[in-house]
Amino acid sequence: MNNNAVEVTRVTKRYAQGKDWLTVLDDVSLTIAAKEFVAVSGPSGAGKSTLLHLIGGLDFPTEGQVSLEGQSWSSLSAQAQARLRNQRIGFVFQAYHLLPELTAFENVMLPAMLGPEGRSRRQIGERAKNLLDRVGLAARLEHRPSELSGGEQQRVAIARSLMNSPRMLLCDEPTGNLDTGTGEAVLELLKQWHREQSMTLCIVTHETSVAKAAQRIIQMRDGKVMG
Ligand SMILES: Nc1ncnc2c1ncn2[C@@H]1O[C@H](COP(=O)(O)OP(=O)(O)OP(=O)(O)O)[C@@H](O)[C@H]1O
Ligand SMILES: [Mg+2]
Repeated sequence: MNNNAVEVTRVTKRYAQGKDWLTVLDDVSLTIAAKEFVAVSGPSGAGKSTLLHLIGGLDFPTEGQVSLEGQSWSSLSAQAQARLRNQRIGFVFQAYHLLPELTAFENVMLPAMLGPEGRSRRQIGERAKNLLDRVGLAARLEHRPSELSGGEQQRVAIARSLMNSPRMLLCDEPTGNLDTGTGEAVLELLKQWHREQSMTLCIVTHETSVAKAAQRIIQMRDGKVMG
């Protein structure tokens, strides 16, 4: 089996801008090894979030190819892509993206409820509680996102991203909205999970302290990966 978790091969991403094209990713190639922890760093507008979205199959390249574990996103049906996203990948976004009408507990359970049959609601509930306990929110199960602080919402989002035990976790500025102390705690949690679950971890960040924690830093600028 292919040992690379991610292969990005000669990827270009362009957006139509009036009559012109805006090139956001310009002939990008990179690999991420299984179980590696990489940080993607670079100035605002460099294309970091775009790259993360392409890796996670949330968006698709204009040219080139993105493969996970040797399988290209473009070779899969929409249904198979959705299954892959739900079962193999965890996403943590800078803006949390929690569902406002659901409690913390329900938000964390959601990926399992959307996944394949197999686990009972009781098992799902127990895992959700366990994850919320691990992120220090055992006393906040019934709170809705509007009743949680930014750091608490981010920790709910992290617990949710781990609900289906993904093989890869993709995080976009997971500590970007947090104060230093909370940011450090969130980073510590991610590092710990990376070690314990031996999953592939990719964090987009412009914070040096976060990038330094990674095994490798992918530096981006103007839509290109620097050497
Ligand atoms: N849907 C879109 N349509 C047009 N342009 C887009 C779109 N999405 C992103 N862009 C442009 O692509 C460029 C890269 O965006 P991206 O969000 O990947 O940057 P980034 O490196 O994540 O920046 P930041 O650090 O500010 O989050 C930006 O110049 C942005 O304006
Ligand atoms: Mg971004």
